[in-house]
Amino acid sequence: MDRIFSGVQPSGNMTLGNYLGAIRNWVKLQDDYESIFCVVDMHAITVWQDPDDLRRATREVAAGMLAAGVDPKKNIIFNQSNVSAHAELGWVLNCVARLGWLNRMTQFKEKAGKHKENASCGLYVYPNLMAADILLYKATHVPVGDDQKQHLELARDIAQKFNNDFGKEVFPLPDPMIFGTATRVMSLRDGSKKMSKSDPSEYARIGMTDDADAIAKKIRKAKTDPHPIPDNVDGFEDRLEAKNLMNIYGALNDMKLEDVCAEYGGQSFADFKKALTDLAVAKLSPISEEMKRYMDDPAQIDAILRDGAERANAIAQPVLDEVKDVVGFLRP
Ligand code: TYM
Repeated sequence: MDRIFSGVQPSGNMTLGNYLGAIRNWVKLQDDYESIFCVVDMHAITVWQDPDDLRRATREVAAGMLAAGVDPKKNIIFNQSNVSAHAELGWVLNCVARLGWLNRMTQFKEKAGKHKENASCGLYVYPNLMAADILLYKATHVPVGDDQKQHLELARDIAQKFNNDFGKEVFPLPDPMIFGTATRVMSLRDGSKKMSKSDPSEYARIGMTDDADAIAKKIRKAKTDPHPIPDNVDGFEDRLEAKNLMNIYGALNDMKLEDVCAEYGGQSFADFKKALTDLAVAKLSPISEEMKRYMDDPAQIDAILRDGAERANAIAQPVLDEVKDVVGFLRP
């Protein structure tokens, strides 16, 4: 049976990129797949997290999934550290993945920056834990934004090597699902950089809890160029910031980029930014209000996560047992 697994790190405030690139697609897929959505707190601690902030952000990411429309009855929503099989399978996969494979991971290079020697060991083996997340549920499909493509290719390589090494088709090779008009939402300050929770500038991103004023201010200050809006998709060339804002508009309004060009081509950015602000506020404020409602009732979020962890564990444990048997671990 087709099964989805996907996750978001609670490593800061959830962004419009997380919503448009991932969570919104999950909502569209939830009727057609058995789906498991995870707040990956174990991934988050690969870089320093203040413990109180981590608790808050874990609830906030769960609230974001719920507020966006992920149904916790139909799907499983849980936080990773509550199902210990992730760590256990992660270790086995650490012993399957090769150093050479991890050395090619561009996200480690970006996150570790110039001080590689100072990065945590967890950050280095992060993609192995991500493979464990997916394979623990024998997930067949993984809906993510474009930035996770390389990690998913690695997850497939790890699954294949495990199956080959032990001569048994234990894991299906998971298929990435990267779709929609906003697979890569860029920073509002620099159109060549991904919009990210960890960008030092608040003005680089729209957060899912931003209120109407904050959204308006960030869009007003978003970088553009002196030319009018292009009237066709070939008119962007190196106008990365213009393309990004128009892509965001298209994604929020379920329109193709070419249709956004047709509607706003020739106009000034000042007018377009006003339209984008109105649209963003109209689409995002119901979600941010619902997130706030959940955040005011942490016991409700915790109950959903607890129930999700129990149901996730019921799927994960037999798979972990199978892996232990295949590997040769004695289970007396
Ligand atoms: P994370 O927390 O960075 O992002 C969560 C999801 O949001 C997508 N995303 C974006 N999409 C479009 N534009 C952007 N600017 C943007 N920023 C983030 C990401 O592609 C992702 O789908 N390693 C993962 C979390 C993870 C995971 C997993 C995902 C852990 N285990 C297993 C899938 C399956 C991450 O750091 O996502």
